[in-house]
Amino acid sequence: MKNSSVQIIRSKKDLRVQVKEWRMKGLKVGMVPTMGALHHGHLSLIKEIQKHVDKVVVSIFVNPKQFGPHEDFDKYPRSETTDIKQLEEVNTDLLYAPEAGEIYPDGFLTSVTVTKITEGLCAAKRPGHFDGVTTVVTKLLLQCLPDVALFGEKDFQQYTVLKQLAKDLDIPTEVMCGKLIRDDDGLATSSRNMYLSPEERQIALEIPKTLKQVIAEIEGGAMPLQEALDKGTQHLLDSGFKEVQYLEIRQSDNLEPITQTITETSPILARVLVAAVVGKTRLIDNMPIKILF
Ligand code: PAF
Repeated sequence: MKNSSVQIIRSKKDLRVQVKEWRMKGLKVGMVPTMGALHHGHLSLIKEIQKHVDKVVVSIFVNPKQFGPHEDFDKYPRSETTDIKQLEEVNTDLLYAPEAGEIYPDGFLTSVTVTKITEGLCAAKRPGHFDGVTTVVTKLLLQCLPDVALFGEKDFQQYTVLKQLAKDLDIPTEVMCGKLIRDDDGLATSSRNMYLSPEERQIALEIPKTLKQVIAEIEGGAMPLQEALDKGTQHLLDSGFKEVQYLEIRQSDNLEPITQTITETSPILARVLVAAVVGKTRLIDNMPIKILF
């Protein structure tokens, strides 16, 4: 695109030259990896990372390796021109929009796997998904070598996995979590929300309501944990969701399940996490919860 205030780079070679130039000037570089179809959740991540760094790189790459064979890779929204306009509005410095061959050249044979925390939750119904995410994010971080990378809180399992990945592989990037942004009606922002019909969107709103209800019941001591989760699952199904893939509570720092054997005197910081399908659209969401036995 001509005359954009956002510098657009499509090759890792050019990206490295630019980032090296910034670094030589003593500037701190941040990266927000995305798959495009940007919405105000992404823009909020960009504004948040701007508080920590001098230059911001946003990447847009719809990563085929993280989609299952029957998922929405082909129809995933691609809207580079609109995305660039939005990036301009929040003063993004650089858009890295590589061609597929820059990420997966012919003969590419490597896959990066994080174990344990990639089991359960989203992984249960999306086998191979996290290997796709960890492989592409490893590549993006190594191509850019940012000081900080920011990932959205909505994909809480993804954020936890990517933090572990950078730590385990000594990638010199601080992985941070950007606040989950909701639309005015309470639905967590997502590029996939554009698939929802008005009726489906009404059903989708039961997700944040259910999470709040589960939290109130458990934190208020009105109901045992599993009973509140079962009730929440049933409520989502009764509201019109085709499938509730999970509604679970996990510890925030390591995604371990909460068990009655935990003997803490102070509350355990946890997350109530959900994935549910309305029509053909799979939605995820989560909220923090405090558990005290
Ligand atoms: O969250 C996303 O948009 C993607 O999973 C990511 C992190 C950009 C990797 O493709």
